[in-house]
Amino acid sequence: MVSPIPIAVPVETPAKINLHLGVGPRREDGYHELLTVFQALNLTDSVVAEAARSSISVEVFAGVDEVEANAVPADSSNLAYQAAELLREECGVRKGTHISIEKNIPVAGGMAGGSADAAGALLACNALWGLDLPMSELTQHAAALGSDVPFALHGGTALGSSRGEVLTPVLTTGTFHWVVATSFRQLSTAAVYARFDQLHEGSVVPDPQVPAELISALRQHDVQALGPLLHNDLQRAAIALLPELDLLLESGMDYGALGAMVSGSGPTCVFLARDREHSIELALALSTTGLCSAARLAQGPAPGARIITAPPDLTPVVIE
Ligand code: C5P
Repeated sequence: MVSPIPIAVPVETPAKINLHLGVGPRREDGYHELLTVFQALNLTDSVVAEAARSSISVEVFAGVDEVEANAVPADSSNLAYQAAELLREECGVRKGTHISIEKNIPVAGGMAGGSADAAGALLACNALWGLDLPMSELTQHAAALGSDVPFALHGGTALGSSRGEVLTPVLTTGTFHWVVATSFRQLSTAAVYARFDQLHEGSVVPDPQVPAELISALRQHDVQALGPLLHNDLQRAAIALLPELDLLLESGMDYGALGAMVSGSGPTCVFLARDREHSIELALALSTTGLCSAARLAQGPAPGARIITAPPDLTPVVIE
């Protein structure tokens, strides 16, 4: 049976954090060699691709978390637009799409929100246009769009190497409880990497490593061990650009976080809690410091971008 082509495909797509972000030397292509442990969180954007005659258009609005959605371009510079365009070119598609993005992931916050939207658009357009590309092919297109896009497609917890786009799943047990504290300001990823280069000028940057203890703490769900192992090589550079982040991290530790770090290139900071109750206490405490614009609860690992199917019709059938 041929499945009907849908007229709209809704996708939910996750934010990521890096539990370890090891940054190596700058490569000839301008990117840095990375070794990182990604975790996807249940802090998600919604991306809906609707059928359109021939053009691609994007609309962005704020979700329940009221992030700065108007800071996201609604034109061809939007990564979700570029994802749709790339698929269209690669697969010779002549149809268009209107993409609506409901933002909950902090904008330019170091949680790969733009990459999540691109992953969502790839998945949604693949279904909308009836392309049926396998995950392996979508992942290749994802890597062409940005270093973090493949991870947003796959989700879970994974080791990322090369510039972050080569993924190996990491085994974890249980749910990890995080507090995500957003900043009043934004940071550009490229600017943070440039500051990283400045800070290391004249010194040899070693190849990045991920400690085996971190992988083992994740496998055993040992949150006490995991806290002090959280590490981000970009943190110094992000703090050099926004010194107030240091105070925020410090106050999270004072309030009993098991670990605290800048997420990716920042400025969002994440704090590891013992369990759900502890994460609620921590979020309340952090939100009163005046050092962050909001402190939200999030759990990981969460699934990668996925199509939301309508719930089954559970109306009981009465047979007389
Ligand atoms: O790949 P993506 O477009 O998300 O990267 C944004 C910017 O971050 C790049 O232009 C580059 O300046 C920096 N970057 C880097 N090394 C990486 C990933 C990103 O220098 N591995």
